[in-house]
Amino acid sequence: MAALVWPIDATTPDLSRLQEAAKLLHQGKLVVFPTETVYGLGAHAFDRQAVQRIFTVKGRPASNPLIVHIASPEQFDQVTSGCPPLARRLAEQFWPGPLTLVLPKHPQIPAEVTAGGPTVAVRIPAHPVALALLRIAGVPVAAPSANRSTAISPTRAEHVMSSLGEAVDLILDAGPCPRGVESTVLDVTVDPPRLLRPGPITVPMLESVIGSIAVGPPPSAAESPAPRSPGQMARHYAPRTPLRLVSVEQLPQEQSRLTEQGLRCGILELPNDPRQAAAILYAELHRLDAAGYDLLLAPLPPDTWDWLAIRDRLQRAAHA
Ligand code: TXA
Ligand code: MG
Repeated sequence: MAALVWPIDATTPDLSRLQEAAKLLHQGKLVVFPTETVYGLGAHAFDRQAVQRIFTVKGRPASNPLIVHIASPEQFDQVTSGCPPLARRLAEQFWPGPLTLVLPKHPQIPAEVTAGGPTVAVRIPAHPVALALLRIAGVPVAAPSANRSTAISPTRAEHVMSSLGEAVDLILDAGPCPRGVESTVLDVTVDPPRLLRPGPITVPMLESVIGSIAVGPPPSAAESPAPRSPGQMARHYAPRTPLRLVSVEQLPQEQSRLTEQGLRCGILELPNDPRQAAAILYAELHRLDAAGYDLLLAPLPPDTWDWLAIRDRLQRAAHA
């Protein structure tokens, strides 16, 4: 059955709709909601069956744990057991916002959420709709990005409808997600803390609060049998059309070479500002993927901290 789709204002959401959405979460239903990064596929984090359904719907390996979303730091104690002081400092600085902290897990978090592991990933999202929904629901909500496993993440409700529209119960449509790439994931259970996924909160931003962190693993190490962050799979965020990375200098040559071979090439064109580029990255990939090209070419952005999240997503999207 097709999901209900409810338009909802991104800045002053209709509370009666959110009450209905929260009721569905409490009934074990799957509710797709906007965050500042991407749309999330939400379930009541303490409802094992609902959490299991997330994995089924996404085709996600059970070994890949979920992020738990909370409304305020007071809910910390429901999801973690023992939060290191530096995690509190990061939370104070960057929450609500696109930073996920990996912390020791509270015993009441079901093993399904954490893929059987001893840690739980937690964040407070900054989107007014997400925050209000979490407050009204009053429980932690487990939510991965609302796409099928390894496919391009959704930054608009239409992206969700075309891939998971038949498999979820409700989609709250608040328009485009402002940040456009998934949250930064930082493991603070290790010393020094380790960056598991680059995102909008950059390495220099983190280091300005807690000092030096470990960055990695590099994409090649992610193929080892037991990667530290199970979600760091080499192929991810990928369009169905093959995507090839090229240097900015090589792009014109490569384009004419491929065109001479009779191939129809789509070019990923991003703004020069990394924040603006992130905001449209996935929508552009979705658009190019639907346009029927033989091949997509993406110029690789500069090797700087500000572009790290986008480089990471493009490298995974290009991985055959
Ligand atoms: O911006 C975001 O983080 C979005 C929105 C919806 O909040 N969510 C998201 O979830 O991107 P997902 O499931 O697509 O990615 C979660 C990432 C995965 O790479 C996963 O492996 C990692 O976080 N992760 C989750 N729990 C973890 C844990 N306990 N230890 C290490 N990595 C973990
Ligand atoms: Mg994802």
